[in-house]
Amino acid sequence: MPDFTNRDPRTAEFWDQRFDQQFTPWDRGGVPGQLAGWLQTGKPVSDPQGQTPSCRLSVLIPGCGSGYELQAFCEAGWDAIAIDFSPSAVVAAQQAVGPWRERVVEADFFAYDPQQPLDLIYERAFLCAMPRDMWPRVVQRWVQLLPEGALLLGYFFFDNNPKGPPFGADRQQLVQLMSAHFDLEQDMPVEDSIPVFQGKERWMAWRRKKAL
Ligand SMILES: C[S@@+](CC[C@H](N)C(=O)[O-])C[C@H]1O[C@@H](n2cnc3c(N)ncnc32)[C@H](O)[C@@H]1O
Repeated sequence: MPDFTNRDPRTAEFWDQRFDQQFTPWDRGGVPGQLAGWLQTGKPVSDPQGQTPSCRLSVLIPGCGSGYELQAFCEAGWDAIAIDFSPSAVVAAQQAVGPWRERVVEADFFAYDPQQPLDLIYERAFLCAMPRDMWPRVVQRWVQLLPEGALLLGYFFFDNNPKGPPFGADRQQLVQLMSAHFDLEQDMPVEDSIPVFQGKERWMAWRRKKAL
């Protein structure tokens, strides 16, 4: 492992150093299987019955890293934006996603305001990139960004190693953080994890609750 000077994953510099030295063990090098399958299941328009006007559904990919999923969402017809606060990650993503490079934005998740309401947030290796004491803020931001009925979908990492990243969740802790605002709709094991996440990753879909 290279000798890094920055050990604080709250900072963009931490991630810059790892991208710059090509030390990215979390990087899958492509689109994970359950997302690819899910993208084939439906038309990403708000009006599938054909009444006018229909519009494409929008997805945000926070902490996108190399951002392969951006291309997959765009090719499936989604109005997708990927953000990352590390300039080096943004460069990596722009190189990886070819024609969709303008949809990669350098931005801090906690400050970024999407230009239109979101239908979906895609999660992979973003929550676990942050120390656990930041998680209530992450959940709060998901709640602010997702309207009622919208989805938080993707991969969640479970582990009890106090050191990270990646910082794994304890199931009970995650449910406790999420359950006031989200219903868990899908929860499945992942068969095609890369080594860092092997056996500890689950595919989950959390639906933003409607107000009572
Ligand atoms: C472990 S990497 C995962 C990258 C990508 N999601 C993947 O699956 O390969 C975490 C990424 O989150 C980014 N990140 C961390 N905190 C962030 C923040 N507050 N705002 C935006 N990006 C952030 C880092 O720069 C890094 O690229």
